[in-house]
Amino acid sequence: MAIEINGAATQATPRPGQCLRTFLREQGNFGVKKGCDGGDCGACTVHVDGTPVHSCIYPAVRAEGKAVTTIEGLSKDGELHPVQEQFLEGQGFQCGFCTAGMMMTAATFDDEQRANLPRSLKGNLCRCTGYRSIADAVCGHGGDHKHDAGADVSQEKSPAGDATPGQLGDNVPAPAGQAIVTGTARYTLDVPAEQLPGLLHLKLLRSPHAHARIVSIDATAALAVPGVVAVFTHQDAPAQLFSTAQHELYTDDPDDTRVFDDVVRFIGQRVAAVVAESVGAAEAGTRALAVEYEVLDAVFSPHDALLPGAPAIHGEKDGETARISRPQQNVIAEVHTELGSVSDGFANSDFIHEHTYQTQRVQHVAMETHSSIAWLDEEDRLVVRSSTQVPFLVRRTLGRVFDLPEDRIRVVAGRVGGGFGGKQEVLTEDLVALATLKLRRPVQVEFTRTEQFTATTTRHPFTIKLKAGASRDGHLTALQVEVVTNTGAYGNHAPGVMFHGCGESLALYKCANKKVDAQAVYTNTVPAGAFRGYGLSQMIFAIESGMDELAVGIGMDPLEFRLNNMVRPGDDMVSTHPEPEEDVHYGSYGLDQCVALVRDALDRGKERYRAAGLDDLGADWVTGEGAALSMIDTVPPRGHFAHSRVSLEADGRFAVDVGTAEFGNGTTTVHAQLAATALASTASNVAVRQSDTDLVSHDTGAFGSAGTVVAGKATLAAAVELASRLRAVAAVLAGVPENECVLVDGGVVVGGVRTVPLNEIYDAARHQGVQLAAEGNWGGTPRSVAFNVHGFRVAVNTGTGELRILQSVQAADAGVVVNPRQCRGQIEGGIAQALGAVLYEEVKVDDAGRVTTDILRQYHIPSFADVPRSEVYFATTNDSTGPLGAKSMSESPFNPVAPALANAIRNATGIRFGELPIARDKIYLALRDRTLIPN
Ligand code: FES
Repeated sequence: MAIEINGAATQATPRPGQCLRTFLREQGNFGVKKGCDGGDCGACTVHVDGTPVHSCIYPAVRAEGKAVTTIEGLSKDGELHPVQEQFLEGQGFQCGFCTAGMMMTAATFDDEQRANLPRSLKGNLCRCTGYRSIADAVCGHGGDHKHDAGADVSQEKSPAGDATPGQLGDNVPAPAGQAIVTGTARYTLDVPAEQLPGLLHLKLLRSPHAHARIVSIDATAALAVPGVVAVFTHQDAPAQLFSTAQHELYTDDPDDTRVFDDVVRFIGQRVAAVVAESVGAAEAGTRALAVEYEVLDAVFSPHDALLPGAPAIHGEKDGETARISRPQQNVIAEVHTELGSVSDGFANSDFIHEHTYQTQRVQHVAMETHSSIAWLDEEDRLVVRSSTQVPFLVRRTLGRVFDLPEDRIRVVAGRVGGGFGGKQEVLTEDLVALATLKLRRPVQVEFTRTEQFTATTTRHPFTIKLKAGASRDGHLTALQVEVVTNTGAYGNHAPGVMFHGCGESLALYKCANKKVDAQAVYTNTVPAGAFRGYGLSQMIFAIESGMDELAVGIGMDPLEFRLNNMVRPGDDMVSTHPEPEEDVHYGSYGLDQCVALVRDALDRGKERYRAAGLDDLGADWVTGEGAALSMIDTVPPRGHFAHSRVSLEADGRFAVDVGTAEFGNGTTTVHAQLAATALASTASNVAVRQSDTDLVSHDTGAFGSAGTVVAGKATLAAAVELASRLRAVAAVLAGVPENECVLVDGGVVVGGVRTVPLNEIYDAARHQGVQLAAEGNWGGTPRSVAFNVHGFRVAVNTGTGELRILQSVQAADAGVVVNPRQCRGQIEGGIAQALGAVLYEEVKVDDAGRVTTDILRQYHIPSFADVPRSEVYFATTNDSTGPLGAKSMSESPFNPVAPALANAIRNATGIRFGELPIARDKIYLALRDRTLIPN
C-alpha cells in the first residue's frame, strides 16, 4: 500500500491484522513505543493526517493513502518542534518511555486544550514523573497550575541556589534529553533488524493451573507451524535452581526456581517456549502445544498456607540447601525477636491501639515491559541486551545457571523505560540465553502488558497485626507487630522485603519494648518481588497509622507525639532486627527539619485557603489533616559495590564509565555532576557510559537508591584521583610546584598566570607516561539514613465518599541535593505512584488464583487528572558518608504517603481505614455504616 511516513512516500504491505505501531517500528521508527497493546497508555501515539491516534489499536491498512507522522518526523529541517523544545527546556521526562507519545499528543493542542490538561492528556500515561514536569513542559513555562487540587501553594526551596553551573546543586538537564525528545534514545528492543540478522522471536506457553505437575508436552504440532524453529521445555532447561531476585549475595534469596520446571505453582508460570521466525508464528506455536497436567491441590492465602495439611508448595525441596526456612509449612523466612518486654510495656500503657492492617498487591507498571535480546558475538560470547536494573548480577546469574564463566557473558542495557524494583529480577534473560545457546541465533522476547500483570512480580501483600501502647505523657511504651507476607509461588526477595520492612519502620521510634514476629509465606499466586520501598511502605502504613491512633487516644497532637518519640542523633536505631546493622549511623539528620517544614506548609496552606475563601466546601464536606514519617537506610545491607573509571579524552572532555543503570532515576546526570565538581568542569563536558558489563569490573546495580550514594561515591573517588593527576602533569609541564596548579574549567592554571588547556595536558601526560584514567571503588558502608515526611489536607464528602486532596506536602532529607529539579521529580513521581497504591491500584486475584486485573484498563494507574500538585521541600543537611554530602532519594518518597493520607481521612471523618486501597466505595460504605471506627 502507499503511505506517507514522516513526509516520505513509502510502499509497504502490512501483514493481515497488523497494527500501525508494529508496522511503523518495522520501518525503523523506534520512537513509537509499546506500553500496553490496548490503547490505554498512549506511548505509541502518532499522527494520522494530523490527528493523534494510539497506533497499537489502529490497523495499519487504514493508514493507506494517509500521512503518518511519528516523533522522528515532528522536527522539521533540523529544528525541534516547539513542544520538543518545551519538553527539553522543562525536562518533562524521567525514563522517557512515555515522552514521544506525550509530545505527539501535546503537539496538536490549541490553547483551550492546553488550558485543560487533565482532559486533554487523559490518553497518555506516565509512571515516573507525577506529571508536574510534563504540565510545565506542555505549557512552556514554569508551571500551569490548573490541575492543582486547590490554590497554588507551591513554594519549593532549593538548598543550593548558588550552585556553580554544571556542578553540585545545579539543575543540570539530563544528557539524554535531546535523544528522548527526538525519539532517538534507544531502549532495549530499539535495535535495527540489519544489526541482528536471523533474529528469532520467543513466546511462552503459560500454565492455566495454579498448581500442577507436567506429565507430558507434545510439541509435534507446534514444530509443524510454519516459521517455528524450536520448542524448549523443562527437559531442555538446566537443572540448576536459582532465584529470579538479584542481590550482591545470591544467598540472600532461596534457590527455588528453574528456567522451566516440571511443576507449575501459579497460573501464568512458564511451561514452554516456542521460538520462531516471527512473533505470530511463535504465538501460533504456543497454541499448538499439547500439555498434559496432573492438577495438584493449591492454596491462595498465606493464612491458609500456614494451616496444618496445606499443600506444601516447595515441599520437595531441602530447606537448608534451597535456603527455605520451613518448606513443609510454606514458610520461606521468618523472624521472631523481642527487645525488653512488651507485656510489661503494655501493662504500663495508658492507651493501647490494636488493629490488623492489610496492604494489597500492586504492580510496578514500568512503561517499558520486560524484554531481552541475546546473540553470540564474534568471540562466541553470549551477549544479552536487557531491560534491567542490574546488568552485572544478571551476568552472574546466567553464568551460574548455564555453567558459563562470567567472561563468556556480556550483559548490556540500553535506556531502560522504568523499573521501580521490577527489573531487579531475571525474568527474560534466561529465556533468550537458553534459546541462543541452543540455536546459535539471535533471539528476542518481549512481554505483553498482560504478562507483566500475571507473570512478573508485584509488591508483597502484608498482613500486619499491630499492637502499640503509649503513656499519657506522650511516650511509646510498647510496639508489637505480627506480620505475614504473601510472597506468591516463588521466594524472590521474600526474606529481604520482610526483614527490611520490619527494619527502619520500627527503628524510627524509640521504645524500650519492641516485639516482631514475621513470616514470609508461599502461596499459589503470582510471585511478589522487589517494589519501591522494599517492604517499608507496607509496614510504615501500619506503624504510622498506629502512631496517629495513639496520639488521638491520649489526646495529643500526632506530630507532637512523633516528635516525642522519633529517634535523634545519639539514639540507637533498634528494630529488633535479628542481625543488628552496626554499619548504619547518622551521617546526617534532617528529620526534625522535615517535620517542621511539613507542619509549617500545612499551616500556611490552611491560611491561604481560608484567606481565599476556599475552605467552606459546604455542609456535606468535612476536612482534615494528616502526616506520616519515614526513614530509610541509604544503602542496602550486606554489601553493595561499585567500580567507576573517569578519564580525560583527547578532545579535552571527560568520560565516566560506570556500571549502574539509568532507568529514569537520574544517575547519569548525578554522576556527570559529581565528576564535574571534582574536576572543576561542567556536566556538559562529561560523557557517562554505563550499564555494560564490559565497561567496569563490577556494580551491584541500581536498586536500594544506591546509584548516587554507592556508584556516585566510586565516580567521585575516581574523579578526585584524576584531578590530582592532572595537576601533577601540569606541574611537570610548567616547571612549577604542584600546589601552584589549580584546576579550572577547560584547563589547569599554573603559577597563577597561565592556563594550560586540557588537550595539552592530555598530550603531556602521554609523554610523561601518566595514566589519565583513574579508578574508583566504593563498598556502600558505613550507611546513613534518609528521611521523608508527608502531609495532606483533605476534604471528604460525607454523602458520596468523594475524596479531594486540598494540599499535598512532602519534605525530604536527601543531604546535599545534587540536582534539585531532578530530585524533586523523583519525589513527585514517588508521590504519584503512592497515591495510586493508596486509592485504587490493586492486582486482584480470584478464588482460583487467577489475576483478573491483567490490562491497564482494569488496573488504573494515576493519570494526569488524578495527581494533585505537591509542594516539595528539602531539609538542609550534609551527609558525612554520601558523595559530597548527598543521600539517596528515589524509592523513599513513596513510603509515607499512604499513612499520611489515611491519617488525614481519619482526622476528617473519624474513620480509620486499615486496608489498602482506600477506594472511594470503601469510604462511602464506611461513612454510611460507620463500621470501621476503632476503639
Ligand atoms: Fe513517563 Fe517514564 S518518563 S513513563
